[in-house]
Amino acid sequence: MRAVLVGPPGAGKGTQAQILAEELSIPKVSTGDIFRANVSGGTELGKKAKEFMDRGDLVPDEVTNAMVKDRLAQDDAAGGFLLDGFPRNVPQAETLKGMLADLGTRLDVVLELRVDEEEVVKRLSGRRSCPECGRVYHVEYDAPREAGKCDNEGAELYQREDDREETIRHRLKVYRDQTAPLVEFYSGEGLLATIAATGPVAEVTARAKAAIEEKR
Ligand code: AP5
Ligand code: ZN
Repeated sequence: MRAVLVGPPGAGKGTQAQILAEELSIPKVSTGDIFRANVSGGTELGKKAKEFMDRGDLVPDEVTNAMVKDRLAQDDAAGGFLLDGFPRNVPQAETLKGMLADLGTRLDVVLELRVDEEEVVKRLSGRRSCPECGRVYHVEYDAPREAGKCDNEGAELYQREDDREETIRHRLKVYRDQTAPLVEFYSGEGLLATIAATGPVAEVTARAKAAIEEKR
């Protein structure tokens, strides 16, 4: 299964990608997570990405495309993958198509997660993430057992730099201007499946699985 998750910031792409990748036994490839790991590790890639991420802008395509190409060339992605956060604009989608064609393959499905902008602001302002295992929580909708600590290993949860309200609003604009055109692009390719990403996490997962099965 080669799948892509598309949706505005806070739609639940990371949350669903983690669950779906495990259930489908494929690696989750999250460009946002890879960038954040590079920023906290102080790598060259992290230095290139940081200023764009802090503003809520897209990292330049040549940086992002090269990173994804390397990641998809790793052994564990040979049998399939779930992309979370890539592609993010039509040129990246064209690049991905070319990369997969070079590997003799193509995407199976692009799952669009739909949620309205007010819900996004509520979700992102309450988001907390684990620096150790990457699990994402919400202070109200998906709280850890002990406030501020990860259920898995007890690490102190943190709030993302780009989850301040004005940066969230800017990321939403970037989504509308640059990413939303992908919906039409993939619909034209016959790959698009759209689900409502509201309601409990488990219900969204069930909808996602049904939509993916239908496209298989
Ligand atoms: P990225 O990390 O991809 O951020 P994003 O797209 O803005 O998405 P988020 O991670 O904010 O949200 P999500 O949809 O994963 O939601 P989550 O599951 O966490 O990108 C960050 C930056 O990196 C970009 O701005 C850009 O600079 C750069 N970048 C990344 N990819 C790039 C690319 N391809 N090209 C260029 N630049 C790129 O959920 C959010 C919250 O809601 C959580 O608290 C969660 O617990 C809660 N929640 C989830 N589901 C539900 C539910 N059903 N009900 C209630 N709450 C829920
Ligand atoms: Zn953790």
